[in-house]
Amino acid sequence: MSSPVAVEDLHLAYGERPVLAGVTLEVEEGEVALVLGGSGSGKSSLLKAILGLERHQRGQVRLFGQDPTALPEEEAAQLRRRLGVVFQQGALFSSLSVAENVALPLQMHTALDPAGTAQLAAGLLELVGLGPAAALLPAQLSGGMRKRAALARALALGPELLCCDEPGAGLDPAAGAQVDQLLLQLNRRLGTTLLVVTHHLPTIERLAGRLHLLEGGRVVFSGTLAQARHSGPAGVAAFLGP
Ligand SMILES: Nc1ncnc2c1ncn2[C@@H]1O[C@H](COP(=O)(O)OP(=O)(O)OP(=O)(O)O)[C@@H](O)[C@H]1O
Ligand SMILES: [Mg+2]
Repeated sequence: MSSPVAVEDLHLAYGERPVLAGVTLEVEEGEVALVLGGSGSGKSSLLKAILGLERHQRGQVRLFGQDPTALPEEEAAQLRRRLGVVFQQGALFSSLSVAENVALPLQMHTALDPAGTAQLAAGLLELVGLGPAAALLPAQLSGGMRKRAALARALALGPELLCCDEPGAGLDPAAGAQVDQLLLQLNRRLGTTLLVVTHHLPTIERLAGRLHLLEGGRVVFSGTLAQARHSGPAGVAAFLGP
């Protein structure tokens, strides 16, 4: 079976400014992959290129063995629907309630009737502990609640791969730990492959996945946390701290 994500020699620039300069990275089925790197190192850009939201200039992104840019639009969209995403800022629709935000992908991409959609959305909100907040608008939520609502929405179509940009950003330590636990449960119980961007050490320790350090537009280290600490290049140890 093909890997959910295989990135090869990816180059991405914004105008004249190169951000990714030859990234090669593979995420295997069922694993937890963590992308690390300093602020501005291109982590979110890499995620966007994988999701097809930014166009790369060179190299290739393969999802489940297929290059979406080589497929007809509808097939590429179908392929990308196998991926769920939680953006760095949550990116909820501000005029829709929490329940409506979660229901939206179901309305767009399934044949469920309104009652079935509402029931499934309610179940997803229970899963992330937001049942009582279903009727609230995003502006009425705390940062942690917003992140969990975005997670519920990302899970609506049962993604095989979940991409999550800075799951703990802006959250207090307890809320951050809760989001990490949810991610772990998804991975352990449902076998969802995770691709998580983070530079938060407690998250890195909790998710205990394979690390990929992005530096100078490339992946300069791939391996476990223990390997990074004991035998990684100096830059990795410095990044992780004592
Ligand atoms: N849409 C865009 N247009 C122009 N430049 C961009 C765009 N998005 C990102 N950049 C630039 O690309 C570089 C990498 O940004 P990116 O958001 O990928 O970094 P990051 O590693 O996710 O950082 P952070 O940890 O702060 O989230 C930055 O210098 C940023 O200014
Ligand atoms: Mg980012």
